[in-house]
Amino acid sequence: PKPDLAPTPPMGWNSWNKFKCDVSEALIRKQADAMAESGMRDAGYQYIVIDDCWQKSRDADGNIQADPERFPSGIKALADYVHGKGLKFGLYSDAGSLTCGGRPGSAGHEFQDARQYARWGVDYLKYDWCHTGPRNAEAAYTIMAKALRESGRDIVLSICEWGTDHPERWGPTVGHLWRTTGDIYDAWEGQKDWSMGMTNILDLQVERAAAAGPNGWNDPDMLEIGNGGMTVTEYESHFSLWAMLAAPLIAGNDMSKMDADTVRILTNKDVIAVDQDPLGKQGRRVLRQGDLEVWVRPLQAGEFAAVLFNRGKAAADMTLNWDRLGLPATQKADVKDLWSKKVAKNVSGSYGAKVASHGVVMVRVTPAR
Ligand code: GLA
Repeated sequence: PKPDLAPTPPMGWNSWNKFKCDVSEALIRKQADAMAESGMRDAGYQYIVIDDCWQKSRDADGNIQADPERFPSGIKALADYVHGKGLKFGLYSDAGSLTCGGRPGSAGHEFQDARQYARWGVDYLKYDWCHTGPRNAEAAYTIMAKALRESGRDIVLSICEWGTDHPERWGPTVGHLWRTTGDIYDAWEGQKDWSMGMTNILDLQVERAAAAGPNGWNDPDMLEIGNGGMTVTEYESHFSLWAMLAAPLIAGNDMSKMDADTVRILTNKDVIAVDQDPLGKQGRRVLRQGDLEVWVRPLQAGEFAAVLFNRGKAAADMTLNWDRLGLPATQKADVKDLWSKKVAKNVSGSYGAKVASHGVVMVRVTPAR
């Protein structure tokens, strides 16, 4: 059976969104230092994952080799360094002959690679889907899942086949998280080739909520917070909505150069607590009226998280009605605004708030007993 390594959605950092193929051991050390020192580690971020382009070639025995110029000390030393910071270490590979960046893939080398990862001290594998030819996705990912299990080390399997072959059907038994779409890019909305803006990705999550739960999560792709393509308000929306989706929270920025807003958003402990809620139920969009949306997520012990989301160009007065939570109108509840931190006590029937353009009001609703 699949090891229980993700009872709540994984939290960490990955090199791709900001650095693409420009990875090196110096960069990864710097990011590990920053995760430990910036408050990210204390907020729950744990995995440091090198995405594509760390690999160069295979040796005469077929063993995968890191790029010796970019990783002169080798992967084992780097994993040790990351572990020394109280963090976990992840790598990237691909089920095809080549990765998306054209480096050697794991096809035909799954067991050999998994054993190598275990020797190096890898804790997390993101496994991509380029250059796979006519392979069946479920079968291909099942082979790597088995290889990781037999490697003798606990390794999270992050499935990255972009939602092409219904990963919500088989992902929960094979891996710990599975991408649901093509790639995110750092914009409020838009589409270019295989990539989409934040709200375009969000719209593709609506139908998939039922598949998520403890140890198996829908992955709407990594965070763009801090990368500069959206406003602070839009990044607050991005983080809030990903928490409602029970998404893996994988930062994708340069943690060694974060401004105060980036740290404040990425380490908002109330929003993170929603993401990490042990009940593990993904939130749903329960109302959509033009640019205005209400999202609700049931939490453990009868609490709820809710997001009032305004995609419009002007601020809007919005209301969370108790019937959207399945509560009787007479039910009293405390409502905490998770960004302003204000608490409204003994509210009944509904909660109203002004929501900024492209912004959210995100609340935690605690019904009185
Ligand atoms: C694909 C994945 C991305 C990233 C790149 C690396 O596009 O979806 O997340 O890993 O490959 O080449």
